[in-house]
Amino acid sequence: MKLLFINGVNLNMTGMREKGVYGTETLDVINAEIAAHFKNDTCKFYQSNFEGDICTELQKAPKDGFDGVILNAGAFTHYSYAIRDAIAAINVPVVEVHMSNVHSREEFRHKSVLSEVCKGVICGFGKNSYILAAESFKL
Ligand code: DQA
Repeated sequence: MKLLFINGVNLNMTGMREKGVYGTETLDVINAEIAAHFKNDTCKFYQSNFEGDICTELQKAPKDGFDGVILNAGAFTHYSYAIRDAIAAINVPVVEVHMSNVHSREEFRHKSVLSEVCKGVICGFGKNSYILAAESFKL
């Protein structure tokens, strides 16, 4: 299986920011653990702080032959209609992911403009949210 892991704004700061919420491991370390878990699959890891770049990466997913996208859009989740439209425009399924349980946090995090066009949502399991989301493509 070909799996595309996309991390959005500020996720490059994982391991350095709000360690009590997002843990102490860097995104590179987490990605290496994910790659090891899915060693029999092809995994691509992409991170950007730029909304348009994430849209471009999503747009490329069908022609790059990905079977599924695991997307942690960070704060873009809560307001990016551009990313929402990019998800709706492709025929590759996308699972929305959050490391933290967004529903137990500030009210602005309770609303996702992406969920409606995603196959499903996984949140609250730390780095394992990515693995649980990707495993869903194997069911
Ligand atoms: C996050 C939750 C978002 O609300 C926040 O803006 C993030 C990370 C998470 O992984 O828990 O940057 O998506």
